[in-house]
Amino acid sequence: MSRSTDVRGLVRATRHAFALGALVACATVGAAPADATQYPGVGRPATPAEIKAWDIDVRPDFQGLPPGSGSVADGQKIWDGKCAMCHGDFGDSNEVFTPLAGGTTQEDIKAGRVASLRNPEQVRTTLMKVSTVSTLWDYIRRAMPWNAPKSLSTNDVYAVLAYLLNLGAIVPDDYVLSDRNIADVQQKMPNRNGMMRMPGLWDVHGTPDVANVACMHDCPVRGAVISSLPGAARGSHGDLADQNRTYGPVRGQGVPTVAAAAKPGDGAGGNDAKMTALADRSGCLVCHGLTSKIVGPGYSDVAAKYHGDPAAQARLEAKVKAGGAGAWGAVPMPAQTQLSDADVHALVQWILGSTN
Ligand code: HEC
Ligand code: HEC
Repeated sequence: MSRSTDVRGLVRATRHAFALGALVACATVGAAPADATQYPGVGRPATPAEIKAWDIDVRPDFQGLPPGSGSVADGQKIWDGKCAMCHGDFGDSNEVFTPLAGGTTQEDIKAGRVASLRNPEQVRTTLMKVSTVSTLWDYIRRAMPWNAPKSLSTNDVYAVLAYLLNLGAIVPDDYVLSDRNIADVQQKMPNRNGMMRMPGLWDVHGTPDVANVACMHDCPVRGAVISSLPGAARGSHGDLADQNRTYGPVRGQGVPTVAAAAKPGDGAGGNDAKMTALADRSGCLVCHGLTSKIVGPGYSDVAAKYHGDPAAQARLEAKVKAGGAGAWGAVPMPAQTQLSDADVHALVQWILGSTN
């Protein structure tokens, strides 16, 4: 038996022990904390409710998908109120964020490959790229709407996804998407056959590097480690740098914290780090810059517009709570129901820059 086989055997045995450890840990979940004091003073077992709150992934085979349903028509209502301001009425807007629908055809739905991906001029949309409908379900539930993630009910997620699929002509207008028919929808995803089958991006002797021997010094490096993503695929999503937003927290690009970005004299009540942090925490700064328009008006513009208007404080408090459109354009602000009345009062006072 060679030395490296020895080490692999050890790794296997250790992995087995870890797996057993994990099983034991699962078995102790829910037990009284007193039973779990193998390491006194260090943590406590996660409760079943805590695990349930985290364990929400939906897999391509739909394991983890909660039962429920939602219609295209209901989805349209949710879309108009909670998604359209950022993704466009028909999911095709590139004005603020990347478009979700468009660029797919009935031929693509038949073939399972999106032909326009080969056209470098075509703006990439989510429905062109995503291969598994479970990913959309999971992502929308987990991350959208951007300003209030995890706020949608299970049936809301089904409905708004049904609407998005309808925008791509993947399901008809009268469709009701549910856990019982979502597998049929998978068979119509335009890019369902577009997934890469390569074992890993790093080509280390044909398989990903999972059976390595620990080496702490003078380690041998055999050959050059190069990415094996095919050259043709590199630019297939366009120049990623051009797709970055020019504002907000963009991945891979350093942005100063919002509080640091506030300057004295900003219309929004000045450089008040505590209020800026409250606005940030409350999700307002996703859509409002302190001095610049994002989805909604910059706060300094709001302050200027209502300068000297004694009724503005009460009116804007009501508007923030109820949401609405028309004062700055057609794009609505969703109702901000996550806040206490006191916080709404303080935020509006801060925005208007008043001191009493
Ligand atoms: C305040 C703006 C905003 C709102 C409102 C919003 N989104 Fe998004 N959405 C984004 C941003 C920004 C991203 C990209 C996030 C990232 O890449 O981290 C995104 C990404 C997505 C994606 C994935 C796109 C991709 O190709 O990766 C889906 C699907 C999506 N949103 C659906 C929705 C739905 C459905 C709603 C309404 C329930 C919604 N969004 C509301 C801003 C928003
Ligand atoms: C999803 C995007 C979004 C979020 C999140 C958001 N707003 Fe807005 N807000 C808007 C839009 C769009 C408008 C313009 C509405 C209009 O034209 O009447 C607006 C308008 C306003 C106005 C001016 C209203 C008027 O009638 O002139 C105030 C004040 C305001 N928002 C405060 C807030 C506060 C405070 C928060 C956080 C609790 C917040 N907004 C969160 C999108 C948003």
